[in-house]
Amino acid sequence: LDNGLARTPQMGFNSWNYYYCNVNETHMANAMDDIVNLGLDKLGYNYVVVDDCWALRERDAQGNMQSDPKSFPHGMKVLADRAHSKGLKFGLYSSAGYTTCAGRAASLGHEKQDAKLWASWGVDYLKYDNCDRGDVPAKKRYGDMRDALAATGRTIFYSICSWGTDGVAQWGAQYGNSWRTTDDIYNGQDAVTYNIVANDVDAAYAAPGGWNDPDMLRIGNGGQPIGLDRIQFGLWSLAKAPLILSCDLLKLSQKQLDVIRNTEVIAVNQDALGIQGRLVYDSPNQYQIWAGKQSNGDQVVAVVNLQSAGATLRLPFNLLKFAPSAQLKIRSLWDHSDLGIFSEGLDVKVAGRDCVMLRLTPVIDVSDKIFRLQPKGLP
Ligand code: GLA
Repeated sequence: LDNGLARTPQMGFNSWNYYYCNVNETHMANAMDDIVNLGLDKLGYNYVVVDDCWALRERDAQGNMQSDPKSFPHGMKVLADRAHSKGLKFGLYSSAGYTTCAGRAASLGHEKQDAKLWASWGVDYLKYDNCDRGDVPAKKRYGDMRDALAATGRTIFYSICSWGTDGVAQWGAQYGNSWRTTDDIYNGQDAVTYNIVANDVDAAYAAPGGWNDPDMLRIGNGGQPIGLDRIQFGLWSLAKAPLILSCDLLKLSQKQLDVIRNTEVIAVNQDALGIQGRLVYDSPNQYQIWAGKQSNGDQVVAVVNLQSAGATLRLPFNLLKFAPSAQLKIRSLWDHSDLGIFSEGLDVKVAGRDCVMLRLTPVIDVSDKIFRLQPKGLP
């Protein structure tokens, strides 16, 4: 969407996958504090988004949405102000339907009034869901809200949550800043790899301004081993997916913080070129290779081991779009170490259910040029 936002994928926090309908204003305020205290804002995690259940089911006498007085007694504006005072941005949720997925008030038919109200609160981001949509076509429902947001005069990030339905990836870029390509993610290897593989078929539609969204990061939700955290964070970064945390940030372990704060992996996600990395080799349930081009001509590669036992996996360079004879300087991103210069391929040791992230830089061989240029330069 051409609203100046989402030049790189959005990063931040969303309440749903951890607090669900129990979310309250303390959780949201704490998330803002934690983001700043953990230094996550400096790394790009700037949007703090309250998901479903902030609103009552009923509108007020003027037809306005109202926040749930039990869980949000001070209302949404106070939270937006708090976010802004910390240099963060505030988002909320509604549905392009008659009620939200949890049965709260939603915005179909109320687009202009709702967008105006949110803008008056200082809202910077809308996640717009797909429940209870009746028979109104998707483009009409999502288009009406896009136009209503634009009419407020406030710049509001527009995150479409239509779960890959109605061919959303094909038209999403004209409507929103990101669009969900899959169902909700849940803990476990199948969900993580299922969502990112499903998201891969829409790769061509991702570009600065609008991104494919395979749903949130499960890191810190419990039950997911650290190797799977690395698989998810690495693949989401390479696929230019939104990096949205949804957990109690204070409960993240040091190892999990090391994953979500890895500057070299985040840099892949936030690379200005905005090309979605692709699955280039798949041996189902065994291993995968993903690769994507970066703005400086490097390729970043994720070598993913889906089996429980560690393995040495071959990365043949002919899978990548370099000249066949290219010599490649390789850096390992999780541990920030240079591995050396290689040609043809690399054997990569990957622990069971884990992923190695590599950055490959072609080494420019200048000897040939020097040889040819020198005689010319001689008197
Ligand atoms: C849908 C969305 C989720 C979440 C819930 C809220 O399932 O896909 O991300 O927003 O609704 O009810």
